[in-house]
Amino acid sequence: MRTNYADDFPLLKNSTENGKRLVYLDNAATTQKPTQVIDAVRNYYEQYNANPHRGAYPLSEKATEAYEAARGKVAAFIGAGSPEEIVFTKGTTESLNLIAGSYGMDIVQEGDEILISIAEHHSNLIPWQAVAKAKSAKLRYLYTDANGKLTTEEIAAKITTRTRIVAVAQVSNVLGIVNPIEEIVKRAHEAGAIVVLDAAQGIPHMPVDVQALDVDFLAFSGHKLYAPMGIGVLYAKKEHLRNMHPLLLGGGMVDDVSEQTAAYTDGPGKFEGGTQHVEGAVGLHSALDYLENIGYEQIGRIEHELTGYALARLHSIPHVTIYGQESGYGRTGVISFNIDGAHPHDVSTILSADGVAIRSGHHCAHPLMRYMGVNATCRASLCFYNTKDDIDVLIGSIWKVREVLKLGAE
Ligand SMILES: Cc1ncc(COP(=O)(O)O)c(C=O)c1O
Repeated sequence: MRTNYADDFPLLKNSTENGKRLVYLDNAATTQKPTQVIDAVRNYYEQYNANPHRGAYPLSEKATEAYEAARGKVAAFIGAGSPEEIVFTKGTTESLNLIAGSYGMDIVQEGDEILISIAEHHSNLIPWQAVAKAKSAKLRYLYTDANGKLTTEEIAAKITTRTRIVAVAQVSNVLGIVNPIEEIVKRAHEAGAIVVLDAAQGIPHMPVDVQALDVDFLAFSGHKLYAPMGIGVLYAKKEHLRNMHPLLLGGGMVDDVSEQTAAYTDGPGKFEGGTQHVEGAVGLHSALDYLENIGYEQIGRIEHELTGYALARLHSIPHVTIYGQESGYGRTGVISFNIDGAHPHDVSTILSADGVAIRSGHHCAHPLMRYMGVNATCRASLCFYNTKDDIDVLIGSIWKVREVLKLGAE
């Protein structure tokens, strides 16, 4: 069975950082793109670029077919009932804003509660603050335990009959913890609330079946899933989509326009005003084919082994604090840590001298940082194209940090 996939990614094969082999460990921020995806985008521009849904000539029809084929692919990939439930957006942020602005603003009323977790990315937090403020509703939080987990008790206590919307990440972008989505959905639906799932950090690592999970909405970004930047997905159950008003008004989202009124089109096109990112949809289609070919089982196997290896090696370094659960179970390869006395930005700069690319900062999760009592963390995030060799370089570099900063290695 094949285990090394880095060769599929031209940037990983060819790049150096500060004269060293690039060790790319910022996959939670964005992933590199396989040749197959790059070729698909190039083919689109070389062979069938035209404005879709607009022209009656063959080139435009081909672009339309490719765009709609990508929609069909996404629907099948996430187990949606129909391609009509898939709206293409710019990414997770736009998808979540669309849900909040178009659905949340309509159904949330004064005194209602919107429930999110303390570990949400700002993209699944600020839009809900806006809804709560506009509607005089209350934004409440699920707090994690010491291991970064959402407990059954916390979920049971916070979801009540006042809860209208529960919006949570499938996987935390800071702690890598996989949230108990089935439990949250069950509880929320029993209480009459709908569930919004931010799958940005989940779907790159594990299969997502929207019907099996029974989530009402789901959002993810192509670029974290080996596809181009600027393409994302909003899944919504048909009955929700039908009742939502569009946010972007203009060309392509109407059936008829008179001087004073406009009749919006049905289906996902209603939310896709303006010329769409066909190249991105084509690239996303190709990325999903690529992932399917490898299979989530294989991806999970490689990532689980790498994560366990990285956590064990990190754990053995003095002065290193790992945030969240330290075993490889129930989590992805997003690993947040700090080194005593060293600012995360200094750590990432020192690591980059060895070619290691990690993220440092607040990871768009200010409330979680405050809750954890830190200003920032270092975050290494793995995916299936990483290797033990990458982890060894990371660990070797971390060992040097306190020495370089003259803090004493032991
Ligand atoms: C959990 C989570 N939600 C939302 C986002 C926002 O994604 P994008 O910037 O692609 O819109 C991110 C990005 O890091 C994320 O990790």
